[in-house]
Amino acid sequence: MSFTITSLGGYIHEYQKSILNPAQFWEQIAEEFFWRKRWDVALSHDFSEPRVEWFRGGKLNIVENCLDRHLFTRGDQPAIIFEPNNGTGATPEPSRTLTYRQLHSEVCRASHALARLGVQQGDRVAIYLPLIPEAIIAMLACARLGAVHSVVFGGFSPQALRERTNDCGARVLITADGAYRGEKEVALKAAADEALRGCPLVTDVLVVKRTGAEVPMMKGGPKDRRDHWWHEALASSEPTHEAVATDAEDMLFVLYTSGSTGKPKGVVHTVGGYMVYTAYTFKNVFQCRSGHGSGSSIERDIFWCTADVGWITGHSYVTYGPLLAGSTILIYEGIPTYPDPGRYWEIIDKHHVTHFYTAPTAIRALQALGNEHIEPYHLSSLRVLGSVGEPLNEDAWHWYHHHIGKERCPVVDTWWQTETGGIMIAPLAGITPTKPAHVTLPLPGVQPVIVDTNGTELVGNSVEGNLCIRFPWPGILRTTFGDHERCRQSYFSQYPGLYFTGDGAKRDENGYIRILGRVDDVINVSGHRLGTAEIENAINEHPKVLESAVVGYPHPIKGEGIYAYAIVDLTDRSADNLVREIKETVVRIIGPIARPEVVILVPGLPKTRSGKIMRRILRSLAAGDASNFGDTSTLINPEIVEQIVAAVGSMSQP
Ligand code: WT7
Repeated sequence: MSFTITSLGGYIHEYQKSILNPAQFWEQIAEEFFWRKRWDVALSHDFSEPRVEWFRGGKLNIVENCLDRHLFTRGDQPAIIFEPNNGTGATPEPSRTLTYRQLHSEVCRASHALARLGVQQGDRVAIYLPLIPEAIIAMLACARLGAVHSVVFGGFSPQALRERTNDCGARVLITADGAYRGEKEVALKAAADEALRGCPLVTDVLVVKRTGAEVPMMKGGPKDRRDHWWHEALASSEPTHEAVATDAEDMLFVLYTSGSTGKPKGVVHTVGGYMVYTAYTFKNVFQCRSGHGSGSSIERDIFWCTADVGWITGHSYVTYGPLLAGSTILIYEGIPTYPDPGRYWEIIDKHHVTHFYTAPTAIRALQALGNEHIEPYHLSSLRVLGSVGEPLNEDAWHWYHHHIGKERCPVVDTWWQTETGGIMIAPLAGITPTKPAHVTLPLPGVQPVIVDTNGTELVGNSVEGNLCIRFPWPGILRTTFGDHERCRQSYFSQYPGLYFTGDGAKRDENGYIRILGRVDDVINVSGHRLGTAEIENAINEHPKVLESAVVGYPHPIKGEGIYAYAIVDLTDRSADNLVREIKETVVRIIGPIARPEVVILVPGLPKTRSGKIMRRILRSLAAGDASNFGDTSTLINPEIVEQIVAAVGSMSQP
């Protein structure tokens, strides 16, 4: 693709072009793709509604651009290298490669299978799968039909799956019998069955056989609906399929993410803009070479992004971005520490991975486990290291650069969000000079603005405030599913005319951007976003809890940990039992990623006259600072602060 930037001068030139005439800039990028019909209007927008339309009137299919377009030039090139959970040791399961041609055939078969279940353009399909090739095939099969996928992370609870499935009105669910995760076998189908007891709209379920575990296959009514084996449905389908031409602004997917209220938001991305944006950012940030044909691998990079397809990173930089660019991706089913903490480095060595993109939490965890786990492996294939999801602190940055990249590989710390669709602020690998803990400069087309709390723009360098974006880029979210007003409220109302990110940021003396973290009631645990209200709602489900408040606190590995305060009724339960039960309640309702690190049982919560919890006090205390609570004169119950301090002191927890 001819839009790859190759020098710092080139970047500056492209950036200026993109600001002077954004619509024209993105049109030139869009020309590189295959459109069934060219667009009429490149950009039409109004942030106050918000309404953003890119490439209106254009017709295309994104999967045709991911797969069909490459068949002639790279049909026999690997598209996906799959490394199973149990891919090493005495009885390893072999890794599996799908070429572009094979992936294309599988996607076509899966599209037919979905169509036979009645899935049509615009219908929603929920996907609840482990990180196996079928997860990518399922997403692409939906997109090929013009259907809308909603992937739910396999680690989410049945209740979380149910809520998301119902919110988007999915009629079909794709899941698996089970999943392998380290030592464990996860009963995914059982979790899906439990979720589906509350999903009246779901008529059919496709079940991928992964573990071979015995699972009940439910037969439905007279037309034999409900459960179907994926492999049977695909085996009886043709390997070719006429892709549906969608409008550029048709919905591609819904992906749920946490906000500051209790209910997750269904972030909506549309076909044309998302395609252009993920491909463009993938090529330029990672500088990944895709090579041609099936010949030697000299010029062909292997891109490994460790994210699960349940998160936006798994949509944009496991699936769409790399495939649009014709690259080879590696996916790994398991966890970084199974069977030992050298697993990631073993995989890089085994498959000659050139690009490695992961989260700071994984970097810090592996750093803490010791460098002896790296030593047995050759990491000389590596060319580029990436980071995403939370601030990459200086110490972890240096360790990553030195011990993994051997000081040969640029570290690209990429800032973006579920809502932005793709990377927004990041160095271009090998082009932009990097600086530890800084995400550096905006990509072409991205206009970051730092504002104070009144919304006044802080111009120039050496400023700190709230991070906003001034102008639409093709990957921006279009709405939140079923509730457009919520989209406006959440992102476009605080600072009129600007998209508000929810993050604090600093521009240093040289104009480099550093992300300071969330400024709203969202916490970022191991790169996973969780709303404090959502966790509080889960805690409050425990019958003995009267009220709760959740805050984040600095955690050495996870970035932030979850710290909960709960007012409880202690009759007939011991404090220890209650703490354990409360943690389990959160795991049951949301999933293990939301398990609170600490639960403090308290007699009350600090509240203002209007009944608002003063979280500032709870945050300082969680961070271990009981000396400075600031102004507490507006509290109606100032005496409660001392009692909470005492409760924290008396409850030591692992
Ligand atoms: C939030 C978005 C984008 C994919 C993964 C997370 C934080 C993301 C960085 C970074 C500092 C970062 C922000 C952002 N974040 N990348 N490189 N440096 N913070 O997606 O779940 O939508 O979360 O993650 O706070 O708002 P997400």
